[in-house]
Amino acid sequence: MHHVGIIGTGSYVPEKVLTNHDLEKMVETSDKWILERTGIRERRIADENETNVTMGRHALERAIKKARIDRTDIEMLIVGTNTTDPTWPSAAGHIAQLLNLRKNIPFFDLQAGCTGFNYSLAMGEQFVKSGQYKTVAVVGSDKLSAITDYEDRNTCVLFGDGAGAVVLQRGDKEGIIRSHLGGAYQSRLALDLRKKGENGHRFMWMDGRKVYAFAKGAMAESCLRVLDPGGMASKEDLCALFNRVDGIVPHQANVRIIHSAAEHLESKVGLPDGAIKKKMIITIEKYGNNSTASIPLALDEAFQEGRLRKGNLVILVGFGAGLTYGANLVRL
Ligand code: ACO
Repeated sequence: MHHVGIIGTGSYVPEKVLTNHDLEKMVETSDKWILERTGIRERRIADENETNVTMGRHALERAIKKARIDRTDIEMLIVGTNTTDPTWPSAAGHIAQLLNLRKNIPFFDLQAGCTGFNYSLAMGEQFVKSGQYKTVAVVGSDKLSAITDYEDRNTCVLFGDGAGAVVLQRGDKEGIIRSHLGGAYQSRLALDLRKKGENGHRFMWMDGRKVYAFAKGAMAESCLRVLDPGGMASKEDLCALFNRVDGIVPHQANVRIIHSAAEHLESKVGLPDGAIKKKMIITIEKYGNNSTASIPLALDEAFQEGRLRKGNLVILVGFGAGLTYGANLVRL
């Protein structure tokens, strides 16, 4: 088996900012409610010409630049996304064409809700680990504003748009160590698309409380499974494993979900209050939940701001529509 390193990260968000105060004028809500219940102050919204393709293209272009590779070095492109419109052909093919990637490479979209980036990364990891490809690009890009009902206060305050990308390459040092993927298809209708109005446009609908309850347990489980895949470690060993983790990049859905997952882990493992919470990288205040973009975007920002550095041990952990969940343990 080969080592798989993340050799470049990139991200992109649209210019337009939608603040909580803007939302106060659109639905019955308040800046105070949104901030207290979700941790979000503002989110970015794509304009009519921006799509998951155009945002994903910018993010990947930046990741390629940081990786210092030529775009023709990429041998496979995986795009985690939920908002390709029309759903076929894929966003991946369009991004490959816009970036003029090498001809004849495989490319595809992977739909797994907001966990799409974790799933896509795990997929890319396998192709490089097995030796089949040396360099694989993974993108998470979503335009959730296209399926958000701006008359529904239960959902419209949460979501935004954006993209993130990483370049994976075979190397001689430890990189992506392990991934864990999970799902709960029995709860698939907790996050759904429902028709509204005469034109039958389909908007996101969710059972917020159900998703919330699922998310904290699922994220905690995935963090444990990447550190202790066999589930045999003692509490003492688990504490030592978590103490070695420098940062956790969670899906940015709700700051309370992130904190609940951290508290759940702290009590399960027996670590003091705040020991895991302080490792959480949080960007939700500025971007809200931008689905598959949220983890690679937060990772890229944490790198740029020096919060995470080369050599750090990091867990990327998410959950989303499906319902799905998953994590990747990575030495940066
Ligand atoms: N402003 C003011 N009041 C609101 C708003 C709002 N924007 N939205 C809901 N409320 C009201 C509700 O109507 C409810 O009123 P009621 O008691 O009179 O019925 C009240 O606030 C409390 O509602 P709760 O559901 O208890 O609020 P909660 O604290 O659980 O927060 C939230 C709601 C933020 C939606 C939370 O449940 C959550 O984050 N759930 C997870 C959602 C999520 O992450 N979804 C995305 C998954 S990822 C993907 O794949 C897209």
